Amino acid sequence: MATVTLTVCTTCRSIGGSEPGTDEPRPGTRLLQALEGRALPEGVTLQPVECLSACSRGCSIALSGGPARWTYVYGDLDPAQHVDDIVAGVTAYAATDDGLVPWRERPTVFRKQSIARVPPQE
Ligand code: FES
Repeated sequence: MATVTLTVCTTCRSIGGSEPGTDEPRPGTRLLQALEGRALPEGVTLQPVECLSACSRGCSIALSGGPARWTYVYGDLDPAQHVDDIVAGVTAYAATDDGLVPWRERPTVFRKQSIARVPPQE
């Protein structure tokens, strides 16, 4: 069974959107809430975090999973548009042993909105 962590920054704001004067949850929190409402593959854990140091690219997430997997950071994600793609991307990632999903099998947002990838630690 895969042991994968989907880390979601809950403090991200949309690019240029500070939403001053509202009680609305930040976009990062809305993204987390949207993902909490979705079925994720077995072995995938959703982890909220305050800041992934990708603030100018919010909303941002990270995908990781043990010392044998590549880690990815993605940004410019919209909680109203990209949840299906994130779930599809996480599902494909969890189905691999090393985190390397063939390019054509990655959702478009994962192909175009990658911020960084970090090699396995093994
Ligand atoms: S506030 Fe989300 S990455 Fe910094």
